[in-house]
Amino acid sequence: MDKSPIGVFDSGLGGLSTVRAIKKLLPNEDIIYFGDTGRVPYGTRSNETIESYTAQDIKFLQSFNCKMIAVACGTVSTVSGELIKTLPLPSTGILTPSAKAAAEATENGKIGIMGTSATINSGAFGREIKQYRRNAEITSVACPLLVSLVESNWCGVDDDVTNPAVRRYLQPILENGCDTIILGCTHFPHLIPIIRIIAGEGVKLIDSGLEEAKYIKEFLDNNGMRNDSEHKGEAKYFVSDRPQNFSSAAATLLGENIDNECSFIDIFKYI
Ligand code: DGL
Repeated sequence: MDKSPIGVFDSGLGGLSTVRAIKKLLPNEDIIYFGDTGRVPYGTRSNETIESYTAQDIKFLQSFNCKMIAVACGTVSTVSGELIKTLPLPSTGILTPSAKAAAEATENGKIGIMGTSATINSGAFGREIKQYRRNAEITSVACPLLVSLVESNWCGVDDDVTNPAVRRYLQPILENGCDTIILGCTHFPHLIPIIRIIAGEGVKLIDSGLEEAKYIKEFLDNNGMRNDSEHKGEAKYFVSDRPQNFSSAAATLLGENIDNECSFIDIFKYI
C-alpha cells in the first residue's frame, strides 16, 4: 500500500474531469491538482512551449512526493509523451487509455477525435488507435474555442454560444458516420450533456478523464500501490492565477465547494 497522493495536472479546469473520476473510482486516494490557469490555453501553443510548461508542472507536483503523475491534459499527453515517459515515477496521460477504449467501443471502425489544435496536429490519437484497430477510419477536428467556453463555465445544455460551437465542430465527425467520439481534451467531458444531445444517443462518447482514472485504478491495484486505509481521500488544488476564478467554476464541475482547498502558486519558481 502507498498512501502518497496522486499528482494531477492540466492547463486549467479540464483535468477536473479526471479528478471527478478518480474521486469516484478511488475514494481513498489523496490528490494534488495543479491547474495552470495563468497560462491556459496550452493547445494553441508550440510544442516547445508546451514541453517547457509540462516540465515545470511536473516539477511542482514532484515536490509533494506523489506516487504517480496523471497528465490530465490531452495536449500534454499527445505533444509531450516522450518527456512523460522519462519520469522517474509512474505516470499516465489520456492518450493510450482513451485510444484503447475507442478502438474497443467502435462497431463500424469510424472514430471521431475532438482535441486542441496541438493535439490534432500531433496525429498521436490516429497512430495510437491504429495500434489497437489497424483499419480504423479517423476524423479529427481541432476544437480550440471549446477550451475557452469551458474555462468560462459556459457548459449548460441551453447555452446559446456553446451549443452552436459544439454543433459546428461535430459536423464533419457526424457527417463521416463516426459511431464513437474521443473527447480528446479533458475540458470536453464537461460538455458531455451538450455533445450527447447533438451527437445523439447512438454515438459512443469516450470520456478521456474517466478512461484515465480507470487506467490509474488498474495500475495501482496491479502494483499494490492503492491507499487501502479507511481514510477518505482529500484533494488540494493549486493554480497559477486567481484561485477564486478556478474554485467557483470548479464547484459547478465537481459538485462541491473547494474554496478552502484552492491556493495560488508561483509556477515560475519550478524550473
Ligand atoms: N485540457 C487540455 C487538453 O486536454 C488543455 C486545453 C488547452 O489548454 O488548450 O488538451
